[in-house]
Amino acid sequence: MDKKIILSGIKPTGIPTLGNYIGALRNWNLMQKDGNYCYYMVADLHALTVRNDPDELRQQTRSMAALLIACGIDPDRSPLFIQSHVHQHAELSWLLGCVTYMGELNRMTQFKDKSAKHADNINAGLYTYPVLMASDILIYGAHQVPVGDDQKQHVELARNIAIRFNNAFGDTFVVPEPVMPKFGARIMGLQDPEHKMSKTDTNPNGYISMLDDPAVITKKFKKAVTDCEPVIAYAEGRYGCNNLLTIFCACTGKTMDEAVKDFEGCGYGRLKAAVAEAVIAELEPVQSEYRRIMDDREYLDGVLKKGAEQAAEKAQQTLDLAFSRVGIR
Ligand code: TYM
Repeated sequence: MDKKIILSGIKPTGIPTLGNYIGALRNWNLMQKDGNYCYYMVADLHALTVRNDPDELRQQTRSMAALLIACGIDPDRSPLFIQSHVHQHAELSWLLGCVTYMGELNRMTQFKDKSAKHADNINAGLYTYPVLMASDILIYGAHQVPVGDDQKQHVELARNIAIRFNNAFGDTFVVPEPVMPKFGARIMGLQDPEHKMSKTDTNPNGYISMLDDPAVITKKFKKAVTDCEPVIAYAEGRYGCNNLLTIFCACTGKTMDEAVKDFEGCGYGRLKAAVAEAVIAELEPVQSEYRRIMDDREYLDGVLKKGAEQAAEKAQQTLDLAFSRVGIR
């Protein structure tokens, strides 16, 4: 198997959800195998595109880094760092912005969604956010970017930017591709299963936080919205039921056919209890590891410092090359 360079990131806006975990973080862990070289980061600069509380951001950034290690990111083999600690990302972002068209940014669905949600704060950062994300990816020469479905369009933009830059100035960037999990690239909200589960949902019953305790997880699944069809099946338009089955498959490793068979003749109560049980079994070890890491301040600081140094070395090389290609250095 070919060795690949991998890069991914997560915004420290709240505690990550089961959606972040199944859609992305679990895959980040798995991709550390097969001789791949992985860079993982907490995207604190991206968190500034919505109004933020400085103390909260500081706390959530550390907490997110600890959670990533708890999810299995091994900082001894995969540099783990905070985006803002590697200043080269923001510099490359300027160059890339100069080869990105407004028409492309106008098409980004996340920009449209977030502008609608934060109508009183449609800032330029929100608009150019995908360019910074392209910079995060291209600066490490990443071949693959493990993400959930909602970030696929941004990775595709990064591809287009890389191709355009290479055509204009000569081979500079690796053209990346998104990698998504077989099950759970878009985990839906528990209260509104037609929309994705989100850590910024105002209704806490709509999402499972990765730090929810078992009783809370059980209660939230019990309240999950399903439908009035009597039979449990994976079928067009059955958003709530499909979502529960998908989570079940993602957490147990079963195929969809096996899952549907497991619940033949059962009611939703049984399905919800089984899904809750599978999720608790998946999250409990992550939670206890998280608490251990948060208690060891020195360890976490050391990991993030070393990760930023390793990342900056590679980032500077790419930045120098890109600047010289356009005639600046
Ligand atoms: P963020 O913080 O919104 O989400 C982190 C990852 O979780 C995935 N995800 C989901 N997957 C399945 N179901 C869901 N309901 C769900 N919600 C979120 C996201 O697709 C993502 O993979 N812009 C990025 C962070 C970022 C980044 C990067 C990612 C910054 N630079 C470079 C990749 C490469 C973001 O806001 O993700």
